[in-house]
Amino acid sequence: MSVLASRLRQRLESRQARVGVVGLGYVGLPLAAEFARCGFTAIGIDLDTRKVAAVTRGESYIPDVPSEDVRALVSAGRLQATTDFGVVAELDTINICVPTPLRKTKDPDMSYILAAVEQIAARLRPGTLVILESTTYPGTTEEVVQPMLEQGGLKAGVDFFLAFSPERVDPGNPSFNTKNVPKVVGGTTPACSELAAALYAAAIDTVVPVSSPRVAEMVKLLENTFRAVNIGLVNETAMMCDKLAIDVWEVIDAARTKPFGFMPFYPGPGLGGHCIPIDPFYLSWKARQSGFEPRFIELAGFVNGSMPHSVVDKIAEALNSQKKALNGSHVLVAGVAYKRDIDDIRESPALDVMGLLHERGARVSYSDPYVPVLSGRSWRGYDLQSTTLSQAALAGVDCVAILTDHRATDYETLVTGAPLIVDTRNAIKTRHRHVFRLGAPQPGQTDLSTRALVSAEALA
Ligand SMILES: NC(=O)c1ccc[n+]([C@@H]2O[C@H](COP(=O)([O-])OP(=O)(O)OC[C@H]3O[C@@H](n4cnc5c(N)ncnc54)[C@H](O)[C@@H]3O)[C@@H](O)[C@H]2O)c1
Repeated sequence: MSVLASRLRQRLESRQARVGVVGLGYVGLPLAAEFARCGFTAIGIDLDTRKVAAVTRGESYIPDVPSEDVRALVSAGRLQATTDFGVVAELDTINICVPTPLRKTKDPDMSYILAAVEQIAARLRPGTLVILESTTYPGTTEEVVQPMLEQGGLKAGVDFFLAFSPERVDPGNPSFNTKNVPKVVGGTTPACSELAAALYAAAIDTVVPVSSPRVAEMVKLLENTFRAVNIGLVNETAMMCDKLAIDVWEVIDAARTKPFGFMPFYPGPGLGGHCIPIDPFYLSWKARQSGFEPRFIELAGFVNGSMPHSVVDKIAEALNSQKKALNGSHVLVAGVAYKRDIDDIRESPALDVMGLLHERGARVSYSDPYVPVLSGRSWRGYDLQSTTLSQAALAGVDCVAILTDHRATDYETLVTGAPLIVDTRNAIKTRHRHVFRLGAPQPGQTDLSTRALVSAEALA
């Protein structure tokens, strides 16, 4: 091991290392907090002055990171935040956690990575470990980041160390967090891998080394493509079950009793969040550069992308059963975050459903305990505030569409108060004449569903 590598290793082991995290969002803030908790001095760099000010005040804006933790770490001097990339020169390690969205054309938008790496490259000093964590196509670390960092004359693996380690955080997950999700690490040289593994081993329970950055990059894309494809499969199955008058939810629950070879995925109004709707397209873009046409990704994208339309059709069908038209009806959307128990609306399919409802003439309102306001821009409609679900509020709507099944939602009030419900998440477990479920026989459609009908009054 070189002198520079041994020195860094020693600083990591003694926790003297000053560790930097670029991008203090859903990924970066929990990571910086974890580094600080295990004894490092962690310095977050973000262009967003509000985030930097919040951390400096000891406040968290990420639900998975308690404010008390941020306050304690900041007052102990172990967690700091700044907008100034000047601190790069004082850092031993730098983890890059900036966004990687798609352009309108579904091509990777690398601008955030490029901007962050440019700032780091201008200040990089010998012996620093740089790790890219942003989800990206295989080859990014070696083909894009490495040449930029080497522009000043330092060489990766010799003068500085470079690795890729995908972030696998699942915001809102009560069981798995930054600390207990195994961390895959691939360095550009064995020494790079070893040092990156040493950094993570200090803060994270399990580190999984792989042979190169591109393997690590591909691991993340396989994981997220696996999810996108399986969600696509189950969404298509839900549409099939709809036509066959079979309850897809019952089918999945029974199938999941198989102790091997089956993993349950659930249908819904479409894909959301920063990862699953986006990451597979990073992979297909890269595959196409090499003349390979990945068909599963495109097909899953097509099926999942059509779900908001299917949900709107289902709402129209439900209204029709009560002799009402979508045009002019008041539809209240219950849950707009992209998944349960979180406040994130990025790429949320609920926004697409709301936009389509608006386009087709419905009056749209929403209720989400995690999202107090919605700008008109976010859903191609008008500015809205979350409605509190009360009997009085529900009496004024024609249909409630459950798009996100937050645990905090009062489903009993919904069932007793709403004249009509379209449930895309199987949130309502009992059967009612006025509840239409995605991927299930419609009320009264089969003997099975009518046999199980329970009157709304029975709940009261
Ligand atoms: N959110 C998730 O659940 C999740 C899970 C796994 C992987 N990822 C990946 O992790 C990466 C980060 O995602 P996120 O959800 O934390 O994003 P985010 O938008 O919550 O946070 C990114 C932060 O980076 C900052 N930023 C942007 N450009 C910058 C720059 N040039 N210099 C400094 N700061 C800059 C932004 O201000 C923002 O605070 C993405 O590649 C994403 O795909 C996200």
